[in-house]
Amino acid sequence: MSQDAVVLMKQEVGRAAAQRVQSNCIVGLGTGSTTAYAIEYIGERLAKGEISNVVGIPTSYQAEVLARKYGIPLTTLDVVDHIDIAIDGADEVDPHKNLIKGGGAAHTREKIVDSLADLFIVVVDSSKIVEKLGSTFPLPVEVIPMAVTPVMRQLERLGGKPELRMGVKKAGPVVTDQGNLVIDVKFDSIDNPAELEKTINNIPGVVENGLFVGLADVILVGEIVDGKPRVREIS
Ligand code: A5P
Repeated sequence: MSQDAVVLMKQEVGRAAAQRVQSNCIVGLGTGSTTAYAIEYIGERLAKGEISNVVGIPTSYQAEVLARKYGIPLTTLDVVDHIDIAIDGADEVDPHKNLIKGGGAAHTREKIVDSLADLFIVVVDSSKIVEKLGSTFPLPVEVIPMAVTPVMRQLERLGGKPELRMGVKKAGPVVTDQGNLVIDVKFDSIDNPAELEKTINNIPGVVENGLFVGLADVILVGEIVDGKPRVREIS
């Protein structure tokens, strides 16, 4: 699949998700290159007057910066008592709509926001659809810095191959928006995502892992069919 095709698929799902946002809505703004298009198109719809009175809750500095750029007013979880709709990307989606997230190291805030939404819409291109979680993507685990080594040992005991995520265009490890580190763990196969999610989060020092089980309501999948981008819905 060419890079241009991937961009087209991401734009198409981003646009489709932005269309689901209605006036007078509190929107969870996810993180990643696909959600970035949804944020752009929500801003566009606000600017055109197609929708009004929309406020966003960002899941990362990236989402915050994009929301400001595209004119979406922001609020916080201290101010609102619910979230109507959250739009967020994923690194893998299985047939039960379970996800691996955290490719952008934002899964902790994403899980908080996405889990609070009345409707959680996932936006992905077709390369993210897998039969079994863990088949293509390592599982991100956010960890308090002082606990990295013991947590890595525990993850090895669970059958994983852990690696500390390193920065790109930054020397040293990736530091999350909360000031923590990320361990990417390759598992040969994740047979029971619900159990693994709880087991990993129970290791002292772990803040949150990227397994999102039973949270997604709708998956919008960007595909290229007969050379044209289109969106398939899994609900
Ligand atoms: C951020 O931490 C992630 O959960 C992203 O939502 C996920 O990595 C998908 O990102 P892309 O849309 O850039 O593939």
